[in-house]
Amino acid sequence: MPRVLVTGATGFLGGHVVAEFRHAFTLVTTSRRGGDFAVDLGDRAEANAMLDAARPDFVLHLAAASRMAACEADPDGARRNNVDVPAQLAARYGGRFLLVSTDLVFDGRCAPYGARDPVAPLSVYGVTKAEGEERVVAAGGRVARLPLLFGPDDQGRGASSMILSAIAGQRPVSLFTNEYRTPLHCRDAARALASVLLQTDLSRVVHLAGPERVSRWEFGQRLCSVHGRQPHMLLPAECQDPLRPRDVSLRSDFPQRSLAEMLADS
Ligand SMILES: NC(=O)c1ccc[n+]([C@@H]2O[C@H](COP(=O)([O-])OP(=O)(O)OC[C@H]3O[C@@H](n4cnc5c(N)ncnc54)[C@H](OP(=O)(O)O)[C@@H]3O)[C@@H](O)[C@H]2O)c1
Repeated sequence: MPRVLVTGATGFLGGHVVAEFRHAFTLVTTSRRGGDFAVDLGDRAEANAMLDAARPDFVLHLAAASRMAACEADPDGARRNNVDVPAQLAARYGGRFLLVSTDLVFDGRCAPYGARDPVAPLSVYGVTKAEGEERVVAAGGRVARLPLLFGPDDQGRGASSMILSAIAGQRPVSLFTNEYRTPLHCRDAARALASVLLQTDLSRVVHLAGPERVSRWEFGQRLCSVHGRQPHMLLPAECQDPLRPRDVSLRSDFPQRSLAEMLADS
């Protein structure tokens, strides 16, 4: 079985990836505060010592500064995490390195986006992820862009858990009517990433996205309907934030389950 290192294994997507990858790979996991190796990848010496010990055949890189507000507050930290770290890993592993990136590298004016469309990020998060992609590809590595992710999570992370836990706690939740994405269940993302990771002859940048374009508001309504929940705690809201693109729907390079099936499973 190929030996696969998953970074960011304690994160929202990381939990689903670890659950899926356990069956298919000899798995080694890392993050700052957990996994087989607890390492800050921004510390080059620590990271190299961990990589020497882990001896991976392939690396799936999920670790990132992934919160938009935190990236705006600390652009240098975001650049270290989202640009320097993946560039170093890609220089070491080339085509055996797969960076997970985001639909937020686009500005939302020309959706739906294919993997070859030019990027035009609006936020520090998007800018640093786009720079990370560029450095990874220049070093011979590969990139898989993902859309808004959802799925069960015991810490309430991700689009569906956040909505369902707010409803369970009788807390109102505002959802944008004018922000469109192609949401994908983390399990589907993890399965597609496993397949992309091994196919080193694919194009350098691929899109793994859900089959339907929906607003966050419509996503919430459909989630409630599938789960038999009353949607009265959902409040429609209009996004005015210039840093948030309005429509970053992706054209997926891989088929996924229907949105209805994915919502039922969240
Ligand atoms: N969530 C989404 O909807 C979404 C959508 C598109 C793309 N993505 C991309 O998918 C990836 C995973 O996202 P996520 O939502 O799972 O993120 P997350 O929940 O914030 O998890 C981030 C992970 O990265 C680790 N990490 C961060 N900085 C690190 C460092 N310097 N050294 C070592 N580990 C570090 C964290 O470890 P600790 O917790 O131990 O610090 C954590 O395990 C990211 O690359 C993100 O850009 C996410």
